[in-house]
Amino acid sequence: MSSKPIGFFDSGVGGLSIWMAVQKLLPNENTLYLADNKNAPYGDKSKEEIIFLSEKNTEFLLEHNVKLIVVACNTASTNAIPHLRQKYKVPFIRIQPAIKPAGLLSKTKKIGLLATAGTLKSEMLDLLKKQIPTQDIDIIGRYGQGLVEIVENMEMESEESKFLLTQYLKPMMEKEIDQLVLGCTHYPFLKKQMEAILGDKVNIIDPSPAIAKQVKRVLESKGALAGSNNYPEYVFMANKSVKAMRKLLENFPSAKILLEKF
Ligand code: DGL
Repeated sequence: MSSKPIGFFDSGVGGLSIWMAVQKLLPNENTLYLADNKNAPYGDKSKEEIIFLSEKNTEFLLEHNVKLIVVACNTASTNAIPHLRQKYKVPFIRIQPAIKPAGLLSKTKKIGLLATAGTLKSEMLDLLKKQIPTQDIDIIGRYGQGLVEIVENMEMESEESKFLLTQYLKPMMEKEIDQLVLGCTHYPFLKKQMEAILGDKVNIIDPSPAIAKQVKRVLESKGALAGSNNYPEYVFMANKSVKAMRKLLENFPSAKILLEKF
């Protein structure tokens, strides 16, 4: 057993969608979440910059003695994971677009993938596409430009949010997708708005529950889960603003939310 915290990092509040699923499945775990919102968005940065920031975040979390790191960001996972795994001993859980399960579920053989530019152009995504068992699946990828900022500014209900989502999703609907993969951890916070546009013909795939199960499996295999009597501490740190974090964590009154310069 280990009461060390599980570490999480993202460019901002997106990874909270993953944190919430982990908290739900493993409610006794101590957690430490890092939002590098000073450097957000990551999606438009070069691979080298993403690796540099991911290393910095990893080292910060390691200084705080975490037992496992969830790279709660598709952009950082798809660009930096091989590098992080080679450099650090701590176990990493990566987030990657769920195109494989989407391919298996699709009847129209057309799936939509909404993600950042950094994820769409990553080599990891090319590798993932090769793993799809059925060759005849069309993946309609689209860069959700501006959506990360909308979530960071808590403007999910705004006209701009509706406008951008319509612009990104309508062309996918015209191509008859029946699965939409959310390839950025910020996007589950726009799920309601997406559903209003997509109607009931498109299934939205949010990877958070699957990631939480993976965290549990890895900790179990290492005998490193927290004890069932552990009263958990949830710490959240951001380096620019904690406004969105406060709002999204309203239902977790015990969350300690700190603005830190790092
Ligand atoms: N939430 C992130 C992702 O999953 C980062 C988005 C960004 O900073 O551009 O890709």
